[in-house]
Amino acid sequence: MRTQVGIVGAGPAGLMLSHLLARHGIDSVVLETRGRDYVEARVRAGVLEQGSVDLLDETGVGERMHREGLVHEGIELRFDRTPHRIVFPELTGGRSIMLYGQQEVVKDLIAARLAAGGDIRFEVSDVRLDKIDGDEPTLSFRHDGRDVELRCDFIAGCDGFHGVSREAIPKGEFTEYHREYPFGWLGILAAVAPSADEVTYTYTDRGFALMSLRSPQLSRLYLQVDPDDDVANWPDRRIWDELHTRLAIDSDWSLVEGPILEKGITAMRSYVVEPMRCGRLFLAGDAAHIVPPTGAKGMNLAIADVAVLAEAVAHWYGTGSSTALDEYSATALRRVWRAQHFSWWMTSMLHRFPDDDPYQRQLQLSQLRYTVGSPAAAASLAENYVGLRRV
Ligand code: APR
Ligand code: PHB
Repeated sequence: MRTQVGIVGAGPAGLMLSHLLARHGIDSVVLETRGRDYVEARVRAGVLEQGSVDLLDETGVGERMHREGLVHEGIELRFDRTPHRIVFPELTGGRSIMLYGQQEVVKDLIAARLAAGGDIRFEVSDVRLDKIDGDEPTLSFRHDGRDVELRCDFIAGCDGFHGVSREAIPKGEFTEYHREYPFGWLGILAAVAPSADEVTYTYTDRGFALMSLRSPQLSRLYLQVDPDDDVANWPDRRIWDELHTRLAIDSDWSLVEGPILEKGITAMRSYVVEPMRCGRLFLAGDAAHIVPPTGAKGMNLAIADVAVLAEAVAHWYGTGSSTALDEYSATALRRVWRAQHFSWWMTSMLHRFPDDDPYQRQLQLSQLRYTVGSPAAAASLAENYVGLRRV
């Protein structure tokens, strides 16, 4: 079997790449280990930057997002039992964000690809990358009980942090940068109307808490917990009690509880591999970099990477020139490192660290007060949050 671009992974990166390539008339095959139902149900991130919204719109996959997603014009920062708003449009020349679950983006992209005759193979196994340094790299895999070999012009490794693509790059050909954080997030999805109008980041002595939402009937909430804590230690009552305590403010407001539909603990880490390319293999999204979720950047970086990659691949087919492909890694990494810094900065400002001391906490509070009190500092948070046009 042959295709132009073999894509490993049907997350936002792989699916969006396939969609963008198809608009340039370039064929691709997407390989995914999980089933369609699984990837369409997996609850992940939920904030789309203005640039991601615009790209979904411009390429004809934004219709349901505009019907069901929620445009938000700011976020709230809570500390010292006091809420503070950061208003985006006035700080960013009219930009805002969209709350729309990652799995909804995934559903829309799968539907668009299948409607256009796209080739997505779910439930493949034993995916292997070979000959990435030659002109015809191959993907071998098992599908429907058969061994398949897919010959490609290029391979896009979009298979997330635990995928196989990055492993195909010989040691010594890349540099890894990483940071582990000494905490995780316990996330819940609850069938209750959100108690706040905007995504609310809260700093307290007991640790960080975040209130977000998926729809007018669905709340998404998070608590900072130990990284190796177990959800079994968190019965619903304990979760709500802790949320009430951390989110409390002095004015008249309360958190409304509802049935918890899902809960899970996620580790927090930062990671980058450089370069994001080896021969004819190009990495995109979580396969190349991870950010802690505090800046809401993961899905947006995945989309931004493949926007650059699709143009570079189209340039190669259109002109025979590899200039844009050669620049892909450096171009993508500029945005990646901006998001790395922003996510690390938000994480450092808002969480309790096991080794912090009263001095450290005063620094965090000072930074929070400055961020909400100075238009220049607020604008810096805002432009990073809605996504920079240029990096
Ligand atoms: N072969 C094929 N597919 C694979 C393999 C493999 N060996 N290993 C993993 N996959 C699939 C996963 O099942 C998943 O569906 O690759 C896909 C990768 O998708 P994501 O993890 O969603 O990564 P990406 O598309 O880069 O999107 C990044 O995902 O984790 C969130 O916060 C992150 O929002 C960000 C987004
Ligand atoms: C979410 O809605 O899941 C969400 C929002 C903001 C974040 C992280 C997650 O920073």
